[in-house]
Amino acid sequence: MGQITWHGHACTEIRTGDGTRLLIDPFLTDNPMADVGPEHFTDELDHLLLTHGHFDHVGDAWEILRETGAQLIATFEIVAYAGDHEGVENAHPLHIGGGYQFPFGRAQLTPALHGGQVAGENAGPYSTFPAGFLLELNDGTTIYHAGDTALIKDMELLEGRVDVALLPIGDNFTMGPADAVRAVEMIDPDTVVPIHYDTMEVIEQDPEGWARDVGDRAEVVVLEPGGSHDY
Ligand code: NI
Ligand code: MN
Repeated sequence: MGQITWHGHACTEIRTGDGTRLLIDPFLTDNPMADVGPEHFTDELDHLLLTHGHFDHVGDAWEILRETGAQLIATFEIVAYAGDHEGVENAHPLHIGGGYQFPFGRAQLTPALHGGQVAGENAGPYSTFPAGFLLELNDGTTIYHAGDTALIKDMELLEGRVDVALLPIGDNFTMGPADAVRAVEMIDPDTVVPIHYDTMEVIEQDPEGWARDVGDRAEVVVLEPGGSHDY
């Protein structure tokens, strides 16, 4: 089957059961939690997914995309910025609620309630809606990466569809631990991995305590940066 590796903050690497290598939100160089740098991702990378345009998600994306030739999957506005100003030609734009059948499976953008700035030296006029990703992989597993978001009722629409959910628990910039437990109730995934915490002081949390709060609602997998979950 496949493997999910957390590189700190929201950065998540997925090796699908059919050998496709996906990377979501590669905030590495300036991320004190990151276990690897952008050089870790060489020409093996197939797709790079961005949930939104904030610096702690775009991170090293432009460099990795230029180095690897991997395909960018993101909102129309992020893809437009990447093409106009960052030399990224291989890209597939999506928008909220829309999905597309890629070689590895279907990727759909889900709503997220958050900020829309795009980080980049020439990003002045570019903004976007933030999103999450619902990845219905050909290997039979469905993964939901929520991106940065508040708790939103829209999560109920995912109920019963998600095998593994990656949910922010950091509070301050996204939903915090209590709302993330409510998200688990609404989505009802088999497995949940907490993300977007401990990177900076204002989002310090206790993931083990959160796992106890989730209780038997789902299997909670608390990863160290660089740690993996096999599914
Ligand atoms: Ni953000
Ligand atoms: Mn963030």
